[in-house]
Amino acid sequence: MKGNFKYHNPTKLYFGDAALDHLSEELSQLGERVLLNYGTGSVKRSGLYDEVVDILRGNGLTIIENPGVMSNPTLAKLDEGILLARENKVDWILSLGGGSVCDYSKAVAASVGFDGDYWRHFWLEGNQPAAEQKILPVGCILTMAGTGSEMNGGAVITDAAHNYKLGHVFDSRLMPRFSILNPRYTMTVPLEQMKAGIYDIMNHIFEQYFSGEDDNTSDYIAEGLMRGLIAASRAAVRDPQDYEARSNIMWTATWALNTLIKCGKSQDWMVHQIGHSIGAWTHAPHGYTLAAVSMAYYRRAMQFGRAKFERFAKNVWGVDTAEAGLEALKAWMIEIGLPLTISELGATEAMIDNIVSTTNIFPAGYMDLTPKDVREILRESL
Ligand code: NZQ
Ligand code: ZN
Repeated sequence: MKGNFKYHNPTKLYFGDAALDHLSEELSQLGERVLLNYGTGSVKRSGLYDEVVDILRGNGLTIIENPGVMSNPTLAKLDEGILLARENKVDWILSLGGGSVCDYSKAVAASVGFDGDYWRHFWLEGNQPAAEQKILPVGCILTMAGTGSEMNGGAVITDAAHNYKLGHVFDSRLMPRFSILNPRYTMTVPLEQMKAGIYDIMNHIFEQYFSGEDDNTSDYIAEGLMRGLIAASRAAVRDPQDYEARSNIMWTATWALNTLIKCGKSQDWMVHQIGHSIGAWTHAPHGYTLAAVSMAYYRRAMQFGRAKFERFAKNVWGVDTAEAGLEALKAWMIEIGLPLTISELGATEAMIDNIVSTTNIFPAGYMDLTPKDVREILRESL
């Protein structure tokens, strides 16, 4: 490994079908007033909301409710949450839901003590909260596997008025204090979202794997995670109620994006940038936006980073050439039922210039893209 890095991840995890038993232990270390963020209905339908509220009330906490955190949470909803947290002087935030609710909770936690335009300061300018700024602790009870938000500092927010979806990776102060991961909660996730989550996990691994030329421990870990995910995804698609498969998917999601496999790596993240922009214009599930451009993107990247694509073919798929590796990836995507085109997400030729205009372009893993390249990738993905 050639890179320099610091590794520090403060999130405590409780995993398994009895994980919620540990919530009470955590409460004693947090304040009495909690902002409870949750989504648009699933936790009420599953009964998890009632279970959690009983535990919070049983421990004497005052709950300030913030329902309706939508998938791909918006800036307008963030404004609401910040106001609620300030007016009610909350001590900490509990996220009950998928990656969207967890991201949103971190966004509120970071912004509540910032005096000024938080959207500009954190998301548009990419700043970290100042050392003296107040930050609220966040706890997470996760109901969907995919983003890794439960153990990272990421918070993706959409400015819906400007079709601008933007992620910010906060430093370790914003990583959840604790996350409760019960794979059983993910069993009620709609099939489409389960598949989107699976590809999101796979693509997080790709974004960190397809870069660099050195022999790097992170890449060996990444290959193991990919192989495990392929096996578990096949089992979960065959039988979505397969606990073993769902638990492996959930655990892989956490390790795919919890700051471990980026150690010593330059990374890519351009599929995510293009995917965010597609999401802002189509509102498609995040993982689907990544799947829909991946074949065009990686065929292009292969021209610049052939050795890594050959390694991917051999070590992940057991085939000989870089091209065969990408074909194996495509066959797996078809097998589990992922979209391979942006048309399937509702994107049209007429939308492409808009999507390009809101795509952030960074130096990628093996190639540097221009807006023209992004346009070509989107056209090839139609
Ligand atoms: O709103 P509810 O009713 O809860 O429904 C949700 C939502 O409609 C539903 N759902 C979640 N758990 C469920 C369930 N339905 C039934 N049973 C359950 N147990 O599923 C839908 C999708 O949920 P959401 O939280 O939006 O999905 P996901 O976890 O994929 O999160 C997506 C967001 O995370 C961001 C994405 O951009 C997107 O905004 N990301 C965050 C990252 C991070 N923090 O590092 C990285 C990722 O690359 C990603 O960008
Ligand atoms: Zn993602």
